Amino acid sequence: MSPVEMNLEARFEAYVADEKKIEPKDWMPDAYRKTLIRQISQHAHSEIVGMLPEGNWITRAPSLKRKSILLAKVQDEAGHGLYLYSACETLGVSRDELLDDLHSGKAKYSSIFNYPTLNWADMGAIGWLVDGAAIMNQVPLCKCSYGPYARAMVRVCKEESFHQRQGFQIMLTMAQGTADQRAMAQDALNRWWWPSLMMFGPSDAESPHSAQSMKWNIKRFSNDELRQKFVDMTVPQAELLGLTIPDPDLRWNEERGHHDFGPIDWTEFQEVVQGNGPCNKERLAARRSAHERGAWVREAAAAYAEKQAQRKTSSTEPHAA
Ligand SMILES: [Fe+2]
Ligand SMILES: [Fe+2]
Repeated sequence: MSPVEMNLEARFEAYVADEKKIEPKDWMPDAYRKTLIRQISQHAHSEIVGMLPEGNWITRAPSLKRKSILLAKVQDEAGHGLYLYSACETLGVSRDELLDDLHSGKAKYSSIFNYPTLNWADMGAIGWLVDGAAIMNQVPLCKCSYGPYARAMVRVCKEESFHQRQGFQIMLTMAQGTADQRAMAQDALNRWWWPSLMMFGPSDAESPHSAQSMKWNIKRFSNDELRQKFVDMTVPQAELLGLTIPDPDLRWNEERGHHDFGPIDWTEFQEVVQGNGPCNKERLAARRSAHERGAWVREAAAAYAEKQAQRKTSSTEPHAA
């Protein structure tokens, strides 16, 4: 590293430590840029792949009201994907490259979306637990050191809190319904609980990028801290629903002031991340096919933009003369 670069790096670190925001045209270390591209693109991919499990239930929603709520939620997720791809593009990577990496299987997205949605109660469990875990992860990102990411997260989090509430409300309705409905709600909790805890990523000891991301103010809490917060927040909600969290080791620890919980099956997590979850192939196939079927829209939009640009140049010609 040259003395000039060392100086730039020292200034960057001091700037970030001072809670100031880094903007796209500011100097930043290559590793910081790369970390952000990886994190923001994985996040964007998760938003749009996350539309698939719930999209499956739009046509099967039990009422017009539930259908319109679910439709709005799934559309919000598309919007989140778009803000995040745009934020990622400010780091000098193109959307085409990002999508190619998703479609080729090179890029990762949240492993939770590789689980199937078997019935309507899953819409409740996803909103309550998956969006709940997403909020826990994302609220601290509103203070992330990279300006475009932090600002995108402010709006995303507002919408996520609506998602979480609509999910909880579905669970509440089912938990107070018939015995069959209560059983469906319990079954959905049983299936989504552990994958939701895995959403926070590997434990701190196994998480290779965490320390550096904390130093750069990208990450504010460790994976284990966020997971603990999520468990502590969710246990009383499950009690209110009258449902049982599927963990025999779960209990309040007076000394720690937190809930203890059982061990997570990290082998399952690794399998899903490696592409061997129940729906990995189906999700990627759906994404690829949607991308191919949308090619004409992208071509038409590009042709229209070109035509508009040409009109602009020809209308400014007299002034050029
Ligand atoms: Fe989202
Ligand atoms: Fe959401």
